[in-house]
Amino acid sequence: STPLHSPTSLTSSLLKTVPVAFAPPGLASSSSPESSAPPSVCLASPKRSLLYAMFSHVLSPLIKQKTSEGHCSKVAAHYNELQECGLAARSQSRIFFLRNFNNWIKSVLIGECLEKMRKNRRDIGVLDLGCGKGGDLLKWKKGGISKLVCVDIAKVSVQQCSQRYGDMKSRGHSNEPLYAAEFITADCTKEVLTEKYKDPENTFDVCSCQFVYHYSFETQEQADTMLRNACERLRPGGYFIGTTPDAYELVKRLEASETNAFGNDLYSVTFKKKGDYPLFGCQYDFNLEGVVNVPEFLVYFPLFEEMAKKYKMKLVFKRLLPNFSKEQSYKIRSTKHC
Ligand SMILES: C[S@@+](CC[C@H](N)C(=O)[O-])C[C@H]1O[C@@H](n2cnc3c(N)ncnc32)[C@H](O)[C@@H]1O
Repeated sequence: STPLHSPTSLTSSLLKTVPVAFAPPGLASSSSPESSAPPSVCLASPKRSLLYAMFSHVLSPLIKQKTSEGHCSKVAAHYNELQECGLAARSQSRIFFLRNFNNWIKSVLIGECLEKMRKNRRDIGVLDLGCGKGGDLLKWKKGGISKLVCVDIAKVSVQQCSQRYGDMKSRGHSNEPLYAAEFITADCTKEVLTEKYKDPENTFDVCSCQFVYHYSFETQEQADTMLRNACERLRPGGYFIGTTPDAYELVKRLEASETNAFGNDLYSVTFKKKGDYPLFGCQYDFNLEGVVNVPEFLVYFPLFEEMAKKYKMKLVFKRLLPNFSKEQSYKIRSTKHC
């Protein structure tokens, strides 16, 4: 249940996913160096009024009208049908190391975020938006959180996630208490989650959205509802963390290709056409080793960042995956040498 999303090949390195973290004003990370080249926009704050009025020269500001059904049911059906094949089969897969790499990235991101949170709070509540089959349940356990709400559009995935949590609970020892958990099936781009929590007053310290947010960029309304769900119930000082594909890299590779597609024998990314990249609804079909085959949408990051301001969020950290992993490896090496 490691996220399979990463439209990259193993050979050409993991350039497509961007770990991001949003926090409400007042808790900027001082240890997050800024990166200069796009898309590494960093440390934006509503107060600092960074100007993102100039949307990219490459991306045209065409906002698609809302479609009634859209691709959500296709996405849900796809993830519902994905089989949980077990570690033995997973380790034989050609994307085994890609999965592990993605999992490691998430572990570090989640671990660092919880470490920051713990400085101010003992009981940490988390919302896992697009939880899938529960690939991060163990990470939340290791992070010592108190409460977890898992939400996903794919009903079968939510059931498997809940089952996995139940198994963890029954296997656990009484001296290592497990967080309380709630499981919700919902389309986070169309339904408002505050109406679905068991406790209508639910609040969170962290919202985690791993390899999911790009599904919401089908329409402006869907992207906004997803953001609302992520941020609406965050306590002041809480974090919104996540990973999403890098639109710049996808467009760069598309433009370099002679067709409307690019990839290798492991993955392919197919656009409808070149040269027209609307801000919402810019669809591409992502296929990975026959496991993932699902429509996704470009997330133009400066726009995402701008939209987050509506929910009083400011960007405190953003990295391309290769840079993030290099930084982390450096940290590990220097800690070992101390
Ligand atoms: C690549 S998987 C990632 C799963 C999990 N976050 C992880 O890292 O293991 C993407 C997940 O997003 C979910 N998803 C896609 N669109 C969604 C939506 N509109 N609302 C809620 N979940 C959605 C899918 O069902 C799927 O479980």
